[in-house]
Amino acid sequence: MVKVKTGILPFPVPICIAGTMINGKANYATYGSFGLLSPRPEMYIYIGSQESRHTNTGIKENGYFSVNIPSEEQMQKTDYVGLVSGHNTDKSAVFNSFFGSVDKAPMIEECPVNLLCKLVKTADLPNREIFFGEVLESYVNKECINNGILNFEKINPLLFTMNGPGNASYWKLGNIVGDAYKEGKNILKS
Ligand SMILES: Cc1cc2nc3c(=O)[nH]c(=O)nc-3n(C[C@H](O)[C@H](O)[C@H](O)COP(=O)(O)O)c2cc1C
Repeated sequence: MVKVKTGILPFPVPICIAGTMINGKANYATYGSFGLLSPRPEMYIYIGSQESRHTNTGIKENGYFSVNIPSEEQMQKTDYVGLVSGHNTDKSAVFNSFFGSVDKAPMIEECPVNLLCKLVKTADLPNREIFFGEVLESYVNKECINNGILNFEKINPLLFTMNGPGNASYWKLGNIVGDAYKEGKNILKS
């Protein structure tokens, strides 16, 4: 093993776009720091956001935010909303917005998966706020779901790696290589 600098992103992560309402307009921003917690039946999402982000204002003011999963098709726009800030750029028209039952968290029509989240907790880390949201509603593009089964090839989510400044990339899913919760049973048997 080679010991590497702590702080580089040591594995690929999916990318999401957080949606908020600020001064009556939709604002969208890109996040690699996000994840899912699933103590059933509830589902929670967290995003890690630097304090300077305009998104933080929207989340705190409204108590709601959306998490949108872009596909490869939205790569340029996904990158764009991660390069410019709502502090000085109106990003409301970059995507077509729609709303669920709450008009405080715009979601993105072009993204195949959209989650409406209610802020339930905020944690502070140095220069970061971690927003925990309970997922209230989930929306999936009808082309990407069949009889309740999600088609991840069609969703075609963007993955993200970062090997230091100037060396960050978007990736796509590869192939299925095994059945989760089953492969290990071969060891149980032996
Ligand atoms: C691929 C990518 C991943 C990013 N991940 C994060 C992240 O996890 N946390 C964060 O605070 N900013 C992240 N950013 C930066 C924000 O998206 C960026 O600062 C954006 O302009 C914030 O917009 P806002 O000020 O309108 O909220 C990322 C940007 C890109 C392009």
